[in-house]
Parts: sequence; C-alpha cells; structure tokens
Amino acid sequence: MYQDQNAPLDLRVADLLGKMTLEEKIQQLNQQAFGLNLNANNQGQTLHDVAPDIGSLIFLNDDPVERNSIQRRAMEESRLGIPILFGFDTIHGMRTVYPIPLAQACSWNPALVTQAAAMAARETKLTGIDWTFSPMIDVARDPRWGRIAESYGEDPYTVSVFGVATVQGYQGVELTESSGVAACLKHFAGYGASEGGRDYRATDISAQALWETYLPPFESGVKAGAATLMSGFNDISGVPASANRYLLTEVLKKCWAHAGFVVSDWNSIEQLVAQGVAKDRKEAGLKAFEAGVEMDMVDRIYADHLQELLDEGKLSMDSINDAVARVLRVKFRLGLFERPYTPIVPVSERYLRPDDRRIAAQLAEESMVLLKNDGGVLPISPAVKSLAVIGPMVKDQENLLGCWSGNAKAEDVETLFDGLTREFGGGADLIYARGCDFDGDDDSGFAEAVAAAAHADVVVLCLGEKKSWSGENASRSTIALPGIQEKLAGCLRQVGKPLVLVLSNGRPLELRRLAPLADAILEIWQPGIAGGTPMAGILSGRVNPSGRLAISFPVVTGQIPIYVGMRSSARPNDGNYQDIPGEPLYPFGHGLSYAFFHYGRAILSQDKVGMDEKVTVQVPVTNTGSVEGQETVFWYISDPVCSISRPMKELKYFEKKSIKPGETVVFTFEIAPLRDLSYCDSTGKRLLEAGDFHVRVKDQQVSFELSGC
Ligand code: NOJ
Repeated sequence: MYQDQNAPLDLRVADLLGKMTLEEKIQQLNQQAFGLNLNANNQGQTLHDVAPDIGSLIFLNDDPVERNSIQRRAMEESRLGIPILFGFDTIHGMRTVYPIPLAQACSWNPALVTQAAAMAARETKLTGIDWTFSPMIDVARDPRWGRIAESYGEDPYTVSVFGVATVQGYQGVELTESSGVAACLKHFAGYGASEGGRDYRATDISAQALWETYLPPFESGVKAGAATLMSGFNDISGVPASANRYLLTEVLKKCWAHAGFVVSDWNSIEQLVAQGVAKDRKEAGLKAFEAGVEMDMVDRIYADHLQELLDEGKLSMDSINDAVARVLRVKFRLGLFERPYTPIVPVSERYLRPDDRRIAAQLAEESMVLLKNDGGVLPISPAVKSLAVIGPMVKDQENLLGCWSGNAKAEDVETLFDGLTREFGGGADLIYARGCDFDGDDDSGFAEAVAAAAHADVVVLCLGEKKSWSGENASRSTIALPGIQEKLAGCLRQVGKPLVLVLSNGRPLELRRLAPLADAILEIWQPGIAGGTPMAGILSGRVNPSGRLAISFPVVTGQIPIYVGMRSSARPNDGNYQDIPGEPLYPFGHGLSYAFFHYGRAILSQDKVGMDEKVTVQVPVTNTGSVEGQETVFWYISDPVCSISRPMKELKYFEKKSIKPGETVVFTFEIAPLRDLSYCDSTGKRLLEAGDFHVRVKDQQVSFELSGC
C-alpha cells in the first residue's frame, strides 16, 4: 500500500514502517554528505560509496544525472525502494543568487521574497535537491556574529514574516503537489544569542527571552507548514540545542504539533561531548535522540549506536518508529516515491533564466537602503560629465555574492562598474581606480584614486566586506571596515568633490568615521548576481530607493547590543555611554527616498476596545515630492504598564505601498487584541491584560483602552 499514491499519507507511512527491518529504519535517520563541501567549516569526508538505503544525502554537487544514478540505486537496489532525500544549503538562491537574507528583510516586500524563494526552489529542484536548509530564522542582535547575514535581522516579528514568506516560496501551497522543496527552519533555537557574537558559543537565554524573542519566528514557520527544522549548535543556558528535549519535544512536537522531523546541525550530536553533556559518541547519540533529533547530520552516530542503545533498553522501539515515520512522512509529502528522479533539462533552462534574473534584480533594488543624502547629492544630475569610480568593490564579482552562495559562479555576477557603465555610459565618463584592497595597509593606489577624483565631477566610492567576513564562523571583533578603506575615504574627501559612498557588506557597519566623509551613502548589502544595475539606477534617479533598515547600525561596535525592541531603562535619560549618543547611528526602519512622505494625523476607530473586538488605526501618507516612491509604514505597539515590563515598542505590522506625487494613500492597521497586545510569560502562555495601549507610527502616538480581560 505504501506505493499507492492515492492511499492516505498516514496509512502509507504505517504500511512501510511495518515492512522495515530495524537496520533499514536506522538508515533512514542517517544523513551523509556526498561530494566536496566548499564550506571549510564543515568539510567532512567525501563519500564514494552510498548505501542504497541511506535516509538522506547532502548533495554537494550540481549534477542531477549523478544524483539520479544514486537515487536509482536506492529505488532499485534497496529492498523496499525508499527514495533518498537530497538536501543542500540553498540560502539565497542556487545559481541565480539574490541578496542575502538580511538585505531581503530591508525590502519590506515579503511577496517578492516569496517569489525569489520559489525561483530558488525551482533551480534547487532541477539540480536534484528536494530539501533546503533554509530559512535561518535566528533573531540576531549582535552584528559581530557573522551569521547575521543569513538572518532577517533583529526584530522577532520581521524575522517571522520573512521566514514565513520564504517557507511559502520554497514549499508552495502544498508540498505534495508543488514543484517546490522542503524548507528547514534553523537553528532551533536561540543560536543568534551566541555570546559576544562569537560563533558556536554558548547562549544564555532566559525563559522570557526564549518565548518573547527567539521562538516566535519558529512558531510562525511551523504554522506555515515548514517540513523540517534543524537543531542548533548552541548550548542554551546549560542544555545544548541538539539535546534539548524541552524545545525539540515539549515545545515543537507536543505544543506546536509539528509532524515533520528535526535534523541535527553538522556534527552537532558529536559536539555534545565538547559541550560537556555527554561522555562519548554513544551517549551523545542517546541524548540527541531522546531530546527529539530524528536525523543525524553526518556524525554516523545513529548508524553506529542506535541499535545498541535499543538492545540495552535505553531507547524504545516506539521512539525509533516515531522518528522514522516523521522522515518518511516528509518523503511522501514531497512526492518522492512517485517522482524519485530529477528531470534533466538543459542548463540554460535550469538556471539564470531572464525572468529569474529580473526577480533577483528587483529584490536587490528594493533591499538597498539610502542611509544618507546631504544636499540632495543623489540622484546624480544628468549634467555630471565624469564620475570617478573608486574602491576595491567596483570590479569585484565574488564578494557581491555574500556567504552561502549556493552553486553561484562569480562570472555570473554583474559588477558595480558594469551597472554604472550601463547607466551612465555615453552621458558621463567613468574614471576607475581601485585605490586599495579590502584590508592590509598598502596605500600605493591612493595617488591614482585621488587623481581620478580630482578629474571627476562626482566620486562614487565602493567599499565593503569580503564575503568570507560574514556567514558561519566569521565573527568579527569590530564591525568597522578595515582602516585602509577608511583612510582611502579620508583622502578622497580632501579632494573636495561630492562623495557618494556605496557599501556592500553582510552586517551593519560601524560608520562613525566614514559617514561624515560622505555626502551620500547607499547600503547595497551583498546583492547577489544582479546588483550593479539596481545600484546604478538608484544613483542616477531612474530608481527611487525604497529599502529601510531591518537592523540597527550602532554608532560604534561598543554600542552593541542596540536594537528596536529594547526595554526601558529605570532612568530613561541616563545610563548611556558617556562618549557616544544613546541612539544608533541609523536605527531600525531608517531609509531615505527621493520622494517626501508627509504623515497626516493617525486616527483610531475607537478609544475603548473589548478583548474580542478589533480596533483599527489609519494614517494618511501624502507624497509631497516630485517623484513616485514607495513608503513602508511601521506600526508599533507599546504597553506602558503590565505585570512584566514590555519592550518599549514592538513592531506588529508593516506595509509598503507606492505613492505618486501629490497622492495621498491611507495605511491601515487592524489590531487584534490577542495577537497584537498580548505577551508570553516564561512558559509560553499568552496573556492579555486590560489597560491602556499606545500605537506608534512614525513620530505619532495614539492610545486606546483594552477592557474585559
Ligand atoms: C552548518 C550550518 O550551521 C548549517 O546552517 C548548515 O545548514 C549545515 N552546516 C549544512 O551545511
């Protein structure tokens, strides 16, 4: 019956499970890597001989023919013909790589992110991969942590929205019917709280912070139907994520009723030994399995020890059956039993199709944030006859891709120089000078750069981070750019020409010294393959920038942590560092436009509301500028008095809309008390308390009273 695609899923699972030997079951929980991992942190061994009944492979290869031949052995040579689940890290695109997740969130356009994820899913699927280890929905508040690039930022609501948007793109409406891939919410949970932003470190997370900050994106992702989750590397207040029964079983399986499975992170089972909670591999396997990790990523611990643990009575057959059923369920949901093989289509139809490039470019465009524009130096006037285009990022391809760039090829990346040439070529001369490298202290290129600036009307200085400076195991003690880049900017400032700074990086930067040197700053993040034209379009004014920060830019590294949902100080006007302002340099939500948006008065539908009613708040926004632009309105809730102190303001809703010059558009936020006004206690229970609440939008605040709870 398990082969009958019309039979109910649970019956198929039960039927197959009933036919499997213990050894076959354990193999389903085993994942190995096939091919050479380009991620130096997780090299592992190259697997040459794949057991036909293995549960899953990380497919570090882009050849679907090879994949199909491995799958054929599973289908034809394993006793029950159970297909292998092929996984891979498609994080922001497979070959058509689009902006890093942190940038995506700055677009405030979840529908576009869904489109990009669907495009990534298609390329992933045609490469032979059914499962991507994405989205990473770790709330990240320490930009020293390299993995902040993979996150949707510092705010739990934002991370939830973009996590769900991504899951929907990957999985489609229904995994069984779609051409999508299974998503994997990671890293469950709290990895973003790594101490001091160092990677792989312990995290100290209170129960309150867990429920309020780190778990909401996972709960939303599970509700959105994400097929799988990955347990984290981090130790959570003494209980490592990969041995955390509370999270993996009590919360995920019992409370949220997740029916899919959890895979460990690479080596995270064996690492329980290093973390000091298991004496050896076997005990580590027992702890992870008992906690609720169903699949062992590359450790071979389950393959080596589960049977023994069962024989010793330390594990029950029921728990093994449950784990295997979860893995099989995902394989059935993916339709792998019916469609085990990847259709082989020509590479030109598989990757980089023109429509897909357009999606990547659109997302790059919407994620770029204009941080500063003094004196209206941007857009660059058509009267400008020469541009000095300077900096190590100008002709770079590799670094614009950012971390985890799938199977991207640097040669597919449009450089900033190419984008500028397309945009300005013919109208203005471009004078290029590299100036300096990304780091080091060689300033021998400065003279050429200064000469280029002296000959030009406007200087476009393109600085930033190498892609290897963010991502896994890429933490940095300072989020400033290396001194040589700041020094180059200083020399160019001396020339006295208008200076436009273009930044490409995988984290917020410390811009305290750079910002005053530039008249305008455009943050382009790591835009992927199609960033040059969008960037140049913003500089020329063909495109009106619409990105807004989904992460705060601290004044200096020492100001970390600083983020939007902070709690109030006991002395709100005191206690900041003496030597810097109390606010971030560029706060969450910041971003300029070439249009001007005037906010009218915010109006509430009523000033008293019962707990089962809804209250609506509206604000009219008028574009008083001369060009069309997109405005994102952010709606925050504050609860000034509650049994526990609450964040000073919590983002509850946002909306991005286009507004024509002279037009007024009304933005609406419908407040549902239980969803928007409640809080979680330290056990995860949602509580609603009567009293006054404030709604904050831009610089206004309106208040209403909640009663009846
Ligand atoms: C380790 C990373 O932490 C995780 O995010 C990734 O999915 C796995 N390696 C597989 O590459």
